Amino acid sequence: MTKEQFVGDRYQSIETVVAELRNPERKIGGDFRGKDILSVEQFDYESIVQVLNRADEIEKLDRRERKLVLPDKHVTIAFYQPSTRTYSSFFRAAQELGADVYGMPGMDFSSVKKGESLEDTMWALNAYETDLLVLRHHSDNSALIAADQSVAPVISGGAGKLEHPTQALLDLRTITKESPLHDPRAMNVVFVGDFKYGRTVHSLSKLLSITGVGSLTFVSPDSLKLPRGIVTTLHERGVNLYETNNLSEVLGFADVLYVTRIQMEWFEEVEYTKVAGTYNINQETMKHVKDSAIVMHPLPRVNEIAPEVDQDKRAVYLEKQMGHGFYTRMALLSLVLE
Ligand code: NCD
Repeated sequence: MTKEQFVGDRYQSIETVVAELRNPERKIGGDFRGKDILSVEQFDYESIVQVLNRADEIEKLDRRERKLVLPDKHVTIAFYQPSTRTYSSFFRAAQELGADVYGMPGMDFSSVKKGESLEDTMWALNAYETDLLVLRHHSDNSALIAADQSVAPVISGGAGKLEHPTQALLDLRTITKESPLHDPRAMNVVFVGDFKYGRTVHSLSKLLSITGVGSLTFVSPDSLKLPRGIVTTLHERGVNLYETNNLSEVLGFADVLYVTRIQMEWFEEVEYTKVAGTYNINQETMKHVKDSAIVMHPLPRVNEIAPEVDQDKRAVYLEKQMGHGFYTRMALLSLVLE
């Protein structure tokens, strides 16, 4: 399933992609209207707070009131990669706010199968006067290419291995609501899994460097460490950062244990079997985790959290984290489109 890392003819290296995402013209700067949401690099502290506040407001509305938020809007969702939660939560969020929604939950029955470029697909989806596009794509520069081509604003539902900004925002809402500490600046966040390919950790760790965070610990096999560019960014922003491959050493330290799967789709099979199943959170492991900690996972899980942990009161990755996703995505849609 591994596909080209870069599409189109612009932004052909990670450095160019990141530099463009940091372009001051792409900053949210407190005004979401009509803006693309492609990366956490676009956010400052105030804009993050705006999303969290808007999610709170929307949560308080009843369903009849929510339907009146985006009644004349049309949202298109096009996903080139598999998804359960991101696709359905964006679809439901747009519907819940009263928008019309057109969804392509996979591109196998589109002209992408015949070799159509991302730019041309964007032309087509814009031709029917959509007001907003949500895109998930396997290339690192896809969100930028799509945003440049699209008249309607683009929200990234995940771009390659690089970023998943809306997941990071919903993760932040989960952290502030579900941890008894509430403020990430008081928390030690321990990430577990695959940081070479795992875009959710890339986005969330950078987002936490903007809000401030007690510390970030990254537990992974040596071959799946965080890209050095992100480590440099986190250091530059003054984050206390630790990297290790020893989970038991840091379990008792976590206020947030954020577990991720090894991203199988980017590996050769032999390489995958070398690292698959490295970490396993089960009832036994949970004995070493603080009583006040929360356990998160962006999902899907493969075998890194045993189902027996689902009943643990510290496990928030099922209903709670997904519920925060619904409100966070409604918040983003309404901020961009209202
Ligand atoms: C994640 C993704 O697509 O990056 N899934 C999600 O959106 N919740 C994580 C993953 O696939 O492992």
